[in-house]
Amino acid sequence: MTTMPLGVKTTAHSAAAAARATDLSKVYGEGETQVIALDSVSVEFRQAEFTAIMGPSGSGKSTLMHCMAGLDTISSGSARIGDVELTTLKDKKLTQLRRDKIGFIFQAFNLLPTLNALENITLPMDIAGRKADQAWLDQVVATVGLAGRLKHRPNQLSGGQQQRVAVARALAGQPEIIFADEPTGNLDSRSGAEVLGFLRNSVREMGQTIVMVTHDPVAASYSDRVVFLADGRIVDELRNPTADGVLDRMKRFDAKGRTS
Ligand SMILES: Nc1ncnc2c1ncn2[C@@H]1O[C@H](COP(=O)(O)OP(=O)(O)O)[C@@H](O)[C@H]1O
Ligand SMILES: [Mg+2]
Repeated sequence: MTTMPLGVKTTAHSAAAAARATDLSKVYGEGETQVIALDSVSVEFRQAEFTAIMGPSGSGKSTLMHCMAGLDTISSGSARIGDVELTTLKDKKLTQLRRDKIGFIFQAFNLLPTLNALENITLPMDIAGRKADQAWLDQVVATVGLAGRLKHRPNQLSGGQQQRVAVARALAGQPEIIFADEPTGNLDSRSGAEVLGFLRNSVREMGQTIVMVTHDPVAASYSDRVVFLADGRIVDELRNPTADGVLDRMKRFDAKGRTS
């Protein structure tokens, strides 16, 4: 153990949780059409860590992300961002928390076609009436390699470039946590690798916290930790994953699924 100088708090980039689910359940519908999308899930996402969430289609990956990001209500249990329990927040506070503390990257890039790249990047802050930290913005733009493209509209950019705009938009506000749902799902493997490299760098170099849903073992290998979901439950976890290691675990689940 290293000795910390007196008075130095060790929480910032150590094991502090950026987000945490405790016995979180999410049920859709009622009676015969009822679906238990999440079944008492407990999981922690640490600060400055890059977590990938994997699992078969319908296992609850998107639901978990939406519940943790305050985009969907939960049926029981707890969902926290930092110290804030989402279930206690009224609509207005929840909207504020999403705006101020959470960044989103979706599979569809969700850029506004009439705004140029820079305007898209700063849009959430403009809506919030916050001024972008110029030095930070410059760093983000340089990191995602968009410096020469800021005046371009989305339809003048490639898919990979558009997703990099979406990544920059998520990073620009320095959110406590970024949730990404299949962020490379619409990209060819080279653009995907670029975007994943940027995400990983933002964790390593800027201390960003990222939770990313993916079905791709190669994408997952960019993360620090993979959490596996099946039928709304967490069934396994892998640290410092390699693509082969992830693939291996996935095969094991498939085999289990067939025999049970
Ligand atoms: N809005 C909804 N209404 C009803 N059922 C839903 C809704 N969203 C998701 N589900 C169901 O919840 C389960 C988990 O879905 P989802 O989280 O989208 O899975 P994944 O992202 O892992 O593919 C699935 O059975 C899905 O059909
Ligand atoms: Mg999904």
